[in-house]
Amino acid sequence: MENHLTSEDKKVSIKDLSKHVDSKIEIEGWVYNRRGSGKISFVQFRDGSGFTQVIFEEDKVESDIWEVIGTLSPETSVKVVGTVSKHPKKDEYEIQGESIVVLSISEEYPIGNKDHGVEFLFKNRDLYLRSKTPWASLRIRDQVFRSVTNFFFEEGFTRTDTPVFQPTSCEDTTELFEVDYFGTPMYLTQSGQFYSEAAIMGLGKVYDFGPVFRAEKSKTRNHLTEFWMMDAEMAFYNQEMNEDLQERMVKRILKDALENMKEELAILERDTTILEKCANEEFIRLKHFEAKKLLEDNEFEVDYKDDMTTDEEIWLGNHFQIPVFIEDYPFEVKAFYMKSYVDERGMKRAKCADLIAPEEAREIIGGSQREDEYETLKSELLARDYPLEEYEWYLNIRKYGSVVHSGFGLGLERMVKWISGEHHIREAIPFPRTLVLNRP
Ligand code: 4AD
Repeated sequence: MENHLTSEDKKVSIKDLSKHVDSKIEIEGWVYNRRGSGKISFVQFRDGSGFTQVIFEEDKVESDIWEVIGTLSPETSVKVVGTVSKHPKKDEYEIQGESIVVLSISEEYPIGNKDHGVEFLFKNRDLYLRSKTPWASLRIRDQVFRSVTNFFFEEGFTRTDTPVFQPTSCEDTTELFEVDYFGTPMYLTQSGQFYSEAAIMGLGKVYDFGPVFRAEKSKTRNHLTEFWMMDAEMAFYNQEMNEDLQERMVKRILKDALENMKEELAILERDTTILEKCANEEFIRLKHFEAKKLLEDNEFEVDYKDDMTTDEEIWLGNHFQIPVFIEDYPFEVKAFYMKSYVDERGMKRAKCADLIAPEEAREIIGGSQREDEYETLKSELLARDYPLEEYEWYLNIRKYGSVVHSGFGLGLERMVKWISGEHHIREAIPFPRTLVLNRP
């Protein structure tokens, strides 16, 4: 098969076809469909960088080539030689085919044009990844990575990655995956936050990006058991500065996606009106109390002492049609490490915010100012029955020149799901891990 490969200097990708109009080119990829009408055949073709069609006319190709074209089945890999032309009406480029070499025949490819149902598609995720919509969602995911990396570089952050094996829990202890680490129990990370807090004392402003794990029994279309989180942490930042930074970052991600992912968003048939509004207009900031009051005024039976429910988050997103920071949750429902204060009604609150996105995307970011006083944090650990010896190093961050600091975690797949408009978060990760559907 190797003999048929196109040499690097002749190789053209579909994404670059516009640079080769009227030139003869060679291109390698897969057939994903074929239509014919008499003496003309349209081969739908993809190469990983994009999609195009190759038009073969019986009168213009050798007879043996025409015969091969008649046998092309979906997902057969091929090399095509032809001349690039611009679609007469659309901003698309096609290839007027001259010859084709079959590299490897694909027989009875299980995914076709019919509606297979989600279960079938995810059981065959290795193959389903070849389809157009996963291509578009995963390209958007890649764009989000790039936006985040560029944004933090420009903001003067240092990427500082954190370990996956951790001896303690960062968030809810009931959601830990325990592993046997040479005879000692360890846990798969829920968030790199604690390590980032240590790192800012050396590097000032840091972020990490990696897989995190939650043994959460939530079977919703927003929950994965393995997902990618970006934790950012900043020395000398209070919660207000933290939220300002988050708003700038989310706007940057949206702007980049709207500008660079037009083809992908079109494949996903995404109406981008709200995304455009969110990229440009100021986000809303509401205290938890105000948000609950607004919900109560709109016929919700609310619990002022509790977290936001799924329905409440969805309603707030729909109501404002722009991301909303819900600030200062009751301390009781939040993690022990958050900075706290007592409000004018006597309720202990965390200096924190969850960022709720519209279009049913729900919470995309969780963040807070951290408790920076040694004794206060120690008392909270004791009050919540955490094993103090395990958290000693974390407490000690407050011992040697403690500073006001804040940070947040962005759920990558929640962000990708929102931008792509996909119904379920499993579409936003190449090989999803959820409570069900874990194959391949
Ligand atoms: O709000 P969370 O639990 O915050 C933390 O873990 C902090 N330690 C982060 C930090 O401050 N550095 O999670 C952060 C984000 C959520 O807002 C959500 O977007 C996403 O992670 N997330 C999930 N995404 C997919 N599936 C799940 N099961 C998720 N749980 C949280």
